[in-house]
Amino acid sequence: MLLQFKLYLIAVLYFFGALFMIFFPPRNFKLSGSGAKIRMSRSVGHGLKYEKYVDYSDMVTAAERMARDDPGVVRLVRLKPPTAENRSIIALELHSDKQSKKPGILIMGALNGMAWGSPNAILELAEKLLYDSSYQTPFFNDYDWYLIPMGNPDGIHFTQAQRDLQPLNVQEWSQNLTARRRSRPAEWHKNVDRASESDSCFGTNINRNFAFHWQDDVKKTPGRCSQWFPGVEPFSTHEAQALRKYVDRLGDTIELAVHIHASFEPKKELLLYPWRYSKRHPSNYHALQDIGEYAARLSRLPDGRIYEVHQSSNDGRVAGSITDYLTGVVGTELVYLLKPYHRKYPIYTDSKHLKAYVEKAISATLSLVRGWRRSTNQNTLTFFGKDVEF
Ligand SMILES: *[C@@H]1O[C@H](CO)[C@@H](O)[C@H](O)[C@H]1NC(C)=O
Ligand SMILES: *[C@@H]1O[C@H](CO)[C@@H](O)[C@H](O)[C@H]1NC(C)=O
Repeated sequence: MLLQFKLYLIAVLYFFGALFMIFFPPRNFKLSGSGAKIRMSRSVGHGLKYEKYVDYSDMVTAAERMARDDPGVVRLVRLKPPTAENRSIIALELHSDKQSKKPGILIMGALNGMAWGSPNAILELAEKLLYDSSYQTPFFNDYDWYLIPMGNPDGIHFTQAQRDLQPLNVQEWSQNLTARRRSRPAEWHKNVDRASESDSCFGTNINRNFAFHWQDDVKKTPGRCSQWFPGVEPFSTHEAQALRKYVDRLGDTIELAVHIHASFEPKKELLLYPWRYSKRHPSNYHALQDIGEYAARLSRLPDGRIYEVHQSSNDGRVAGSITDYLTGVVGTELVYLLKPYHRKYPIYTDSKHLKAYVEKAISATLSLVRGWRRSTNQNTLTFFGKDVEF
């Protein structure tokens, strides 16, 4: 009798369970009339898809392939104007669902001429969002993604093309034209635009060229030869003009923005937020710090350390950056500057260093998204002190 009752009870539970699945299907498998697609997804696994540092043409080829293979969800945009050497900055827009507008996430990389790994990180991220089933929910399905893998294609081309030459102190390199033929500058943070052919120094630091408190951090403008040359005026570089037009158009579509930069100092890995130009706190300082700390804990570095999280100006004031422009002019709520360790001119074939950088960059970026979700309590329940997403 008791056994029968138990069986009966189990059958009823199963019945309700099945009904529940029918009425509330798991989101990954929902067939919806709203245009969301059942996508070919699989697990991409732990290996890198792009195993060497991508150059500009590799990046364009990869972006074009994604747009061709998945025209329903990927849109490729060529930003205007093109750079001084006639390369267009590429933006990849991923929309899991054409009908509904979702919170936008903007990811930008390689505004710095030496951040070779950053386009790799952003392409790998796109690849995972599009094709890896473990990234569909919550990341791909719940947001619209705007990815700019390479903000400074001329600078990246310049440094990669010279990688086999002997390094020379930048100051000397810019003054000694004889030595320049057989050497490369030991570091290069700029693009390669020129005021005139006769000028021996060239290049502008794109991430000092944005019109928000431009030059507010120095009394005297650094000269043309300096790696921090901010341009003759705000938005003098084609790159900053193109990025500005794009982010201005997106406006408040973007709720979270991450600039995937690089720290060129070992053991100094940072997760920073505005302001960069001023010691003053932004109005949402506490939210930025909290989400940053949460993300840092979640993306603990392989050697057990965690990212240092603080306002960028604590390390010195820097004016005219894209992150301050996003916060101050575009009005983006959450803006972060992510700096995983990246060697200067790493060995081009060393995929181990590349892989470490890419994994750190992606893990911290997605941890920021998780931190943000948690702060808004979006789709999160707490069970016995543990956050469970559904
Ligand atoms: C720049 O590139 C575009 C397309 O790649 C090409 O059509 C155009 O002629 C180029 N302009 C110059 C000045 O080389
Ligand atoms: C410039 O570099 C060349 C070759 O490295 C060197 O021989 C020469 O002395 C340098 N000139 C000056 C003015 O430093």
